[in-house]
Amino acid sequence: MRIRRILTSLVAGGLLVFAGAGVTGPAQYGRPAAAGVFAEPFQNPAVDADGVAVISGGISRFFDSGGISLPDVRTTDFTEVITYDPGAASILGVRPGPGVTITASTIDNILGSVTVTGASAAGVAAPGTLASAVIRSTGRANQPYTVTITFSSINGGSISSSPASVSSSYLRGDARADGAVDMSDALYIAQYRVGTRIAGATLADVNPVNAASVLADGTASTGDTINTADALAIAQFRVGMRDANYVFTSPPAPTPTATPAATPSPSPSPSPSPSPSPSPSPSPSPSPSPSPSPLPSPSPSPSPSPSPSPSPSPSPSPSPSPSPSPSPSPSPSPSPSPSPTPSVNSPALYATYCALCHGANRQGTALGPRVTASALSGDSITKIAGIIANGKGSMPGYSGMMTADEITALATWLKNTP
Ligand code: HEC
Repeated sequence: MRIRRILTSLVAGGLLVFAGAGVTGPAQYGRPAAAGVFAEPFQNPAVDADGVAVISGGISRFFDSGGISLPDVRTTDFTEVITYDPGAASILGVRPGPGVTITASTIDNILGSVTVTGASAAGVAAPGTLASAVIRSTGRANQPYTVTITFSSINGGSISSSPASVSSSYLRGDARADGAVDMSDALYIAQYRVGTRIAGATLADVNPVNAASVLADGTASTGDTINTADALAIAQFRVGMRDANYVFTSPPAPTPTATPAATPSPSPSPSPSPSPSPSPSPSPSPSPSPSPSPLPSPSPSPSPSPSPSPSPSPSPSPSPSPSPSPSPSPSPSPSPSPSPTPSVNSPALYATYCALCHGANRQGTALGPRVTASALSGDSITKIAGIIANGKGSMPGYSGMMTADEITALATWLKNTP
């Protein structure tokens, strides 16, 4: 059905162009309205002077049939048709570009179609915005949608749009515009709020159309701005507190063991299994469980040198030697040494992953409790590291995002820094 609408608007545009060709168009600033003048349209996600998310449409350049740019040509009047998925977005209003007067506009949020007609006495040079649509994303976090802008008439139909239309894809909540909604989108919005990231059309920018109406917190007439509530809603969606429409679900019951996946479970499994598997697993992961295996091997560190010693070194020899060598478990040091790796920047990790919910100064927010040293005085570093790795309640686990060393360092820093 949407395709038919686009076709209809294209046909309407073609008729207008045809009608215009028979009429002598307005003079193009010293240049006669040549048959071979083309306009290249653009659409950009942007924020307007009020910080409201809009889609700007306009002409990026004029050129002749040979592809040569025509810098003197200006837009004096235009009709623009914006189509979109009405199940994923609504257009709340249209605003004129600089020097433009909007002479007519119709907004149909049932069909997903907006038509804007405007004029400029002085003419708008290219590149220049002709009109902006105040847009609100209303779809789900997994429902990308397309906005298409078609200039059905430019300068009385004397100038053809080439290409005929421009389309862009949007996804509510995808502030980073990488195609998915995740915690980095919340981070992008937070960075926009503190001024370390701008809104714009490049991948380094916050996509304002995706970001602003995660929560529709503007008014219906003014539109939505990019604010902290949008970032929080994304974080809450990611941890299951909101559904894909960003509507609150009842908070998940604090199930104590959400995913005990990669936890170093203290199952001692003392069986000296004569494992013939040659997988040497050379990473001496500091499993905190003091494994009681009475390992007789002298050097637990799997030295990378292929020493031909007859010790049961975990060399990846393919011979399935059935020697009952005890598994090359790491040293029986009782716990990961509490001195954190100095190369880990714990405050930076905290600011990136944790501050959103626990507050910039660890004082707590509506999304997470206080995690100052005094608040954690009853918890061991091992326990804190476990919470960071595996999550707790609505807090996500970070074992997939940080190394074990980073988690231990962060836990130590939280515990010891007042
Ligand atoms: C999406 C929000 C959110 C993020 C992000 C988050 N947490 Fe949490 N955190 C929580 C919530 C909620 C709790 C309380 C969970 C419960 O008790 O059910 C919690 C609990 C904790 C606790 C236990 C506090 C106590 O009661 O003893 C620690 C420690 C903690 N978080 C550290 C971190 C660290 C470190 C990070 C970053 C790596 C982080 N959190 C990221 C929401 C979050």
